[in-house]
Amino acid sequence: MITNQILLLLMLSILWPSAAALPFTPGNIGNLFGMPESDGRILQRSKRGWMWNQFFLLEEYTGNDHQYVGKLHSNMDRGDGNVKYVLTGDGAGTLFLIDEKSGDIHATKRLDREEKAMYTLHAKVLDRNTNAELEPDTEFNIKIHDINDNAPKFAKDIYFASVPEMSEVGTSVVTVTATDADDQTYGNSAKLVYSILQGQPYFSVDSENGTIKTALSGMDREVKENYQVVIQAKDMAGQMGGLSGTTTVSITLSDVNDSPPRFANRKGPFSIGGAIGRIKADDPDDGRNAEMEYSIVGGHDTFNIITDQMTQEGIIVIKKALDYESKRDYEFRVEVKNTYLDARFIHGLQFKDYATVKVTVEDVDESPVFTRNPYIIEVHEDTAAGSFVGVVSARDPDADNKLVKYSIDRHTDLERLFNIDSMNGTITTLKALDREMSKWHNISVVATEINNPRQTTRVPVFIKVLDVNDNAPEFAMSYDTFVCESIKAGEVLIQTISAVDTDEPLVGHKFVFSISASNPNFSIEDRDDNTANILTRRGGFSRREMSMYFLPVVISDNDYPIQSSTSTLIVRVCACDSQGKMQSCNPEVLPFSDGLTTGALVAILLCVIILLNFGLYCTLDGD
Ligand SMILES: *[C@@H]1O[C@H](CO)[C@@H](O)[C@H](O)[C@H]1NC(C)=O
Ligand SMILES: *[C@@H]1O[C@H](CO)[C@@H](O)[C@H](O)[C@H]1NC(C)=O
Ligand SMILES: *[C@@H]1O[C@H](CO)[C@@H](O)[C@H](O)[C@H]1NC(C)=O
Ligand SMILES: *[C@@H]1O[C@H](CO)[C@@H](O)[C@H](O)[C@H]1NC(C)=O
Repeated sequence: MITNQILLLLMLSILWPSAAALPFTPGNIGNLFGMPESDGRILQRSKRGWMWNQFFLLEEYTGNDHQYVGKLHSNMDRGDGNVKYVLTGDGAGTLFLIDEKSGDIHATKRLDREEKAMYTLHAKVLDRNTNAELEPDTEFNIKIHDINDNAPKFAKDIYFASVPEMSEVGTSVVTVTATDADDQTYGNSAKLVYSILQGQPYFSVDSENGTIKTALSGMDREVKENYQVVIQAKDMAGQMGGLSGTTTVSITLSDVNDSPPRFANRKGPFSIGGAIGRIKADDPDDGRNAEMEYSIVGGHDTFNIITDQMTQEGIIVIKKALDYESKRDYEFRVEVKNTYLDARFIHGLQFKDYATVKVTVEDVDESPVFTRNPYIIEVHEDTAAGSFVGVVSARDPDADNKLVKYSIDRHTDLERLFNIDSMNGTITTLKALDREMSKWHNISVVATEINNPRQTTRVPVFIKVLDVNDNAPEFAMSYDTFVCESIKAGEVLIQTISAVDTDEPLVGHKFVFSISASNPNFSIEDRDDNTANILTRRGGFSRREMSMYFLPVVISDNDYPIQSSTSTLIVRVCACDSQGKMQSCNPEVLPFSDGLTTGALVAILLCVIILLNFGLYCTLDGD
C-alpha cells in the first residue's frame, strides 16, 4: 500500500536529466519536495515502494556546518514522534548521520568524488515504543556530485616530435592528449580545449583533439631546425575559470634534400700533394641528403675523381704515372651533385655545381733507383782476389739527375769479400771465393745521391758462387756389347749408353753424345735425356773378318767450361741363335797367333786406342 511506504523526497532538478547540467548549490539540495503519490510511472520502479533510491551530494563542500543530504519520510509518520528512522551501510553513523525523529540526513565532512563516487546505505522505520519494524530495510545510494577540482594533465611534461622541413601547411606533427580526473559524464569539468601558447605562427593545434600541425609553408631546416611549442589544455570547455595544464613539444625539422652541394671556391687552388688531392663542396643538408658524387666533366686520361664516403670529399687520383718532364700543368672541370635527389627541389641544372681544378706536377726529390732489384750475380769459384764480379747501376730519377755513389753495407759483408767502385758500381772480389765455404754471398749495396746524402736506396745483391766444371763426362758403366753375325741389314739397336760426370752443376747435367758420322758400321742416336742408342748401319758382320770393333764415343757436358771426353765402346761379333741370343764370340781364326794370346792382342789394341785418345801410359802384359 502506498500509504504504508516511506517516501524519499528529492529535488527534481537533480533527478531529471534535462536539469542535470544546471548549476546548483548546497542550498538547493536542502529543499526537498514530496513526490506526488499519484506518479504511477515512478512508483512502479520500486516493488518495495522506495520511490527514489538515490541522493546526490556535492563534493568538496566547504561550509562550516554539516552538509544537508536529504530527508527520509514515511507516511506512517504522523508527526507525533512515534517513529524512529535508522540508517546503516557505507559511512552510516560516521560520514552520514540521520535525525531519527525527522529523517534528515547530513554529511559530517567534505567528500571527494575522485576518491569515492557513491555510497550505498540502508534505511528502516521502527516504532519508537515497541521497536517493531514499520517498514522493511531498503537500500539506497548517495552519489557524490562532481565539481571541477582537477586540472587537465598531459601524459608527458615534454614531447619530442619531428616533421620534414618544407612540409605543406596542415601536416600533422604529433597529437598531445591531456586527461582530467573530473567526471567525464557530468558537466564541463572534464571537457578540454587545446590551444597553443608558444610556437605560432609555425604550428597550430587542433582545439578538440590536441593534434599539432604545421601552420607555415617553406619552413627551412637549414635556417631553423628546432622549435619549442607550448600547448595548453583547459577544462570547462576552455571558458573563464577553467583549470589548465601545459606541455612542451620539442619539434625538430628533419632534412629533405632541398639544397644542392656548392663549391665554396670554384677556381682553386686545390691542393694536390703528391699523388692525391681533395676538393670539397658544401651542402647544408644532413646525412644522406648531403651525400654527393664527384666526376670530371668529360672524363680524363690521367686523372679520376672518387668520393670519400666518410668526408664527402672528392679525391683526385692519378690513373697513370705523371711525367714531370713531358707535362707539368693540367686543368679540368669537376662536377658535383647529390647522390639522392629530391624531385621537388631540382630546378634546371642548379642541382649540379662545377669547379676548375688545376694540377701542377712537382718534381719530388726521389731517391736513386737501381736498374734491377734484386741483382743476382754468378761468379765462378777459385777466382782470384780482385776479379770482376758484376756491375750495379742506379740513377737519380729527378729531373736534375744528380750523381750517385755506391757502397757496400759492411754489415752484409762482414768478411770483406767484396769491393765496389763507388763511381761506376763495379763489384770485385777482395779475396778468393771458396764455394765449399759458402754458395751464396748476399750483400746490400747502397746508392747515395752525392749532393744529398739523405737520398739513399739499398738493393740486395745475391752473389752465387758457381762450381767450376773440371770433370768430363764418361760412360756410366762398362758395357758388354755385341753384334750378331746374323744381324739384319739396316739400323738395329745393339746398345743404349748413358754417362756420368762428377761435377754437380746446379741446373743438372746435359750430355751430348756423338761418333764419327763417316763410320760405315755403326751410328748413334742421341735421345736428349742423357742417354744414346748405338745402332748398326749394315748387316753381314763376321768374326772371321773382324771379331771386335772399337767405337769411340765423344761425350760432352754443357757446363762451364765445356768438358768432353771420348769413351770407347767395344763391340764384339758373336754367333747367335735364331732369336738373336749370343752363342759364341770366340774368333774362329786368329790371324796373329805367333806368340800373343787373344787377351794380349786386345790389350795392345786397347792401349793403342787409349794412347791415341788420351796419351795415357799403359803397359803390355804379354804371356
Ligand atoms: C583531430 O581532428 C582533426 C580535425 O578535426 C582530424 O583531421 C585529425 O585526424 C584528428 N586527429 C586525431 C589524432 O584524432
Ligand atoms: C770502374 O772504375 C774502375 C776504376 O775506378 C775501372 O778500373 C773500371 O774499369 C771501371 N769499370 C767500368 C765498367 O767502367
Ligand atoms: C741468398 O739469397 C738466395 C736467393 O734469394 C737464397 O737462396 C739464399 O738462401 C741466400 N743465402 C743466404 C746465406 O742468405
Ligand atoms: C768397318 O768395318 C770394316 C769391315 O769389318 C772395317 O774394315 C773397317 O775398318 C770398319 N770401319 C771402322 C771405322 O771401324
